[in-house]
Amino acid sequence: MDLRHWKLETDSDNLAWLTFDRAGATTNTFSSEALRELGQVVDHLRAMPPKGLAILSAKENGFAAGADIEEFTKIASAEEAMAFLVLGNEVFDKVEALAFPTVAMVHGFCMGGGTELALACRYRVMDDGPKTRMGLPEVMLGIVPGWGGAKRMPQLIGAAAALDLMLTGRAVDARRAKKLGLVDAVTPRRHFPNAAKKMLLEPPPRHAPGLMAAATNWAGVRNIVASQAQKQVAQRARRDHYPAPYAIIELWRDFGGDVRNVPKDHPASMASLYNHPTTRNLIRIFTLQDRLKALGKPGTDPANQATARPGSVPNEVRHLHVIGAGAMGGDIAAWCALRGITVTLQDLAPERIAPAVKRGADLYRKRLKQKHLAQAAMDRLIPDVAGNGVARADLVIEAIVENAEVKRKVFAQVEPRMKPTAILASNTSSIPLQELAGVLQRPERLVGIHFFNPVAQMQLVEIVQGPQTSEEVMQAAQAFTRQIDKLPLPCKSAPGFLVNRVLSPYLNEAMLMVDEGLPPETIDAAAKDFGMPMGPIELADMVGLDICWAVGQELAKPGSTVPKKLQANVEAKNLGMKSGKGFYTWVKGKPQKTTTGTGSVDLKALADRLVAPALNESVACLRERIVADADLVDVGMIFGTGFAPHRGGPIQTIRARGKAEWLKILEDLKARHGLRFEPDSGWASL
Ligand code: NAI
Repeated sequence: MDLRHWKLETDSDNLAWLTFDRAGATTNTFSSEALRELGQVVDHLRAMPPKGLAILSAKENGFAAGADIEEFTKIASAEEAMAFLVLGNEVFDKVEALAFPTVAMVHGFCMGGGTELALACRYRVMDDGPKTRMGLPEVMLGIVPGWGGAKRMPQLIGAAAALDLMLTGRAVDARRAKKLGLVDAVTPRRHFPNAAKKMLLEPPPRHAPGLMAAATNWAGVRNIVASQAQKQVAQRARRDHYPAPYAIIELWRDFGGDVRNVPKDHPASMASLYNHPTTRNLIRIFTLQDRLKALGKPGTDPANQATARPGSVPNEVRHLHVIGAGAMGGDIAAWCALRGITVTLQDLAPERIAPAVKRGADLYRKRLKQKHLAQAAMDRLIPDVAGNGVARADLVIEAIVENAEVKRKVFAQVEPRMKPTAILASNTSSIPLQELAGVLQRPERLVGIHFFNPVAQMQLVEIVQGPQTSEEVMQAAQAFTRQIDKLPLPCKSAPGFLVNRVLSPYLNEAMLMVDEGLPPETIDAAAKDFGMPMGPIELADMVGLDICWAVGQELAKPGSTVPKKLQANVEAKNLGMKSGKGFYTWVKGKPQKTTTGTGSVDLKALADRLVAPALNESVACLRERIVADADLVDVGMIFGTGFAPHRGGPIQTIRARGKAEWLKILEDLKARHGLRFEPDSGWASL
């Protein structure tokens, strides 16, 4: 057998060891070639046969990441997509049908098709390391677990638990997987050979779900479980926006979890999903997310041309010093310590650092679960009023008050004490780097690292290049962003960078609508109807009305209108969630909304009026090259603000409905509401 992606060995016990090692890749994914080869191996083993089969991965990062998305994106028709699904099913069915014991030995990530192959084996053993995760994330790409996952997982662990995993796309660690019955044993990877041998030579009974879990698959109960799941899904997403979760429920309930049984014209069929714009948009976002990840490495991306001289910038940040332990600095420090970096945190007095350390402790308790890991993270977060950490740091991040004069003073004191290879960064949201760089001996080492609030939840970080920032410093800042598991977006240093600049006119328009007498609930409903995860008024209250005010001032164009209610709220110190009152009254972190409905208001027209200024500003950012290209505008707004993911971002929203139609909307709005709707000159070259 001539194999490119798999390696087959047999030992003296007549056990077969099949290792997945996708050729030319650092990650295992299933291309049709890799699947076909697996099919050949299984045919060969059936004819052999060995006493048992262990399937492993040769890749350091994990067992398998699922289907080859690159191949999937090149698929040109629903028929071809279906053929890819049928192939996977046929091969995994063959694995399942093998007459001897089979075990998947899972380390690192095991996603989608990887999990589906593991489910086709008789047993699963999982490494107990912190990076090991198993899941079926297809829903996030707008598709269904189509290689048997929607059939085998509910049978193995019960439908309630399986639907929960399939509908959220959430992956579980080894402890949780064992508890759910998804894996038979958990052991460190170094014990895999012995664990596999034992499993195959003395096969235990197969895992069967408990009675309650098994009952969820019974005919009568199945409908109840499905309708509960449907209700939960409906609270989170509409079917016309996100068809995949609904398709997953129907696939399981009506078609035994097997995509081959679904009629082509059924809304849960591969053809229906494949032809739905959401699916394409979600897959595109997934690949763009990979692009942002790759920006952490020097490479060929047009947005990323830097190569660093050896030793000129840190390869890795081992020690971070953060100046300013307020809302942002405190949370940046805590997050970086969570990700394994030693962090010294400086502020004017110990009592200003204490709340940040407390928030850090809460974060570690929630995220790390095990006490000793939380304690280790706490040990890495070091209060440092004297600023002794500056001299040891590979990176210094300044997050003090938004005042250029004060920042310059701090920079002038700090720079001479830094290591020659260290980088200086500012978290400023609005001050151009060139205004701060003047006091520095080496302005090329200053970069903007702009986090979003709340730091622990927001994935995007804007990496801001001032006119003097060197390419290698940009590159090192992008690499640091990946080190702390965030997504870097390289931006030019211009007011608002990308995210605040595009968000601001959208929030402003919403607040002007409040001034016109529209209820905040109606405005928020219109944005949610468009597909935003949260309405703009609720978002403004969450961000803080003082901050909205300041950003609005900063980005105001000549002749732009300041929302009166916003001004009144700020003057009355009604700042939104943090003060308990803003546009809404907030109780226990929730806005109190009236539920009288939106009446006869045309939500679609309202959404157009909200979104059009954001699209217009996106076009302006593209024209000004705030980010390198349209894809980065889209992915930046999705990961920076949650811009309706199913629509694929602002530029994709323009493409989907058509430039001419959006221009007409802008012109109509301009006629009614004034010059703030003037189309940017960039539309001409879009
Ligand atoms: P904050 O007011 O909560 O915290 C600032 C902290 O800096 C205070 O604890 C203060 O004592 C300390 N500080 C002031 N002068 C200092 C000095 N000379 N040395 C040491 N510490 C000093 O402010 P926040 O909201 O954390 O903002 C900090 C920076 O982050 C600003 O540049 C802001 O534009 C930026 N930012 C803020 C965001 C937000 O949502 N709040 C989002 C993204 C960036």
